[in-house]
Amino acid sequence: MQLQNVILLMGPPGSGKGTQSKLLVDQLGYAYFSMGDALREYSKQDNPLAKRIKETIDGGVILPDNDVKELFFDSIAKIADKPGIIIDGFPRTLGQLGMLDELIAKYHVKNFKVVFLEVDKQKLLGRLTTRKTCPNCQAIYLPGTKEYISEICSVCGHKILIRPDDDPSVVGKRFDEYITKTAPVKDHYESLGQVIHIMGDQSDLAQESIKKVHQEILNKLGVE
Ligand code: AP5
Ligand code: MG
Repeated sequence: MQLQNVILLMGPPGSGKGTQSKLLVDQLGYAYFSMGDALREYSKQDNPLAKRIKETIDGGVILPDNDVKELFFDSIAKIADKPGIIIDGFPRTLGQLGMLDELIAKYHVKNFKVVFLEVDKQKLLGRLTTRKTCPNCQAIYLPGTKEYISEICSVCGHKILIRPDDDPSVVGKRFDEYITKTAPVKDHYESLGQVIHIMGDQSDLAQESIKKVHQEILNKLGVE
């Protein structure tokens, strides 16, 4: 078993967890696990749990811990041969903290980092309600890109769309959930002095901002 390095990407909805995770994966050669992506994929199945998961995500509500535990451990087991992993969107509740601790013990993880992306709420609202996503491969597209306009994913060719939970009527619920359930997880890591704070918004030009945020993460992780 490898998986010696674990980096958590934390931050409110739309803070850039998915965007920055993918850049880090390219840079470090680690595996990537997004709980949101895994749940959206699972929710395409035809069974009662999948239906419940889809309804819960589309309503902007965090799923009960029992509904995500198996998917979390099964998904990690499939990618545990890499030297490290970037985890996006987990743990999202105090209950899930214990599951992550189990993972760290199980794989004898040596280096554990928590990267937190700080972005103003107004900016986040703007990002979420102007983004399109591929429901097949989860690629994310900014307004103005050719894919955004053609609505065809350049990675897999699927039609891209607005995520149901990016509807303005649902986004508020996602923020409420974040404050009540996920902020305490951040507070926990703060109390242990484990949080690396990153300015998640560094330019009015999105592509430039994304690059600068990536560079700040690399600097603070000590990656050359
Ligand atoms: P999830 O899919 O994780 O959603 P989220 O946390 O709300 O975050 P997003 O994916 O919307 O945003 P992001 O931070 O990844 O930002 P992105 O890179 O896309 O979870 C969805 C749902 O699944 C939850 O609500 C819950 O129901 C369920 N769920 C997930 N995990 C769970 C768990 N552990 N337990 C139970 N339930 C769970 O960027 C956003 C936009 O901004 C993009 O357009 C991007 O291009 C742009 N952008 C990124 N960086 C920048 C920048 N620096 N400057 C300008 N624009 C930028
Ligand atoms: Mg995401």
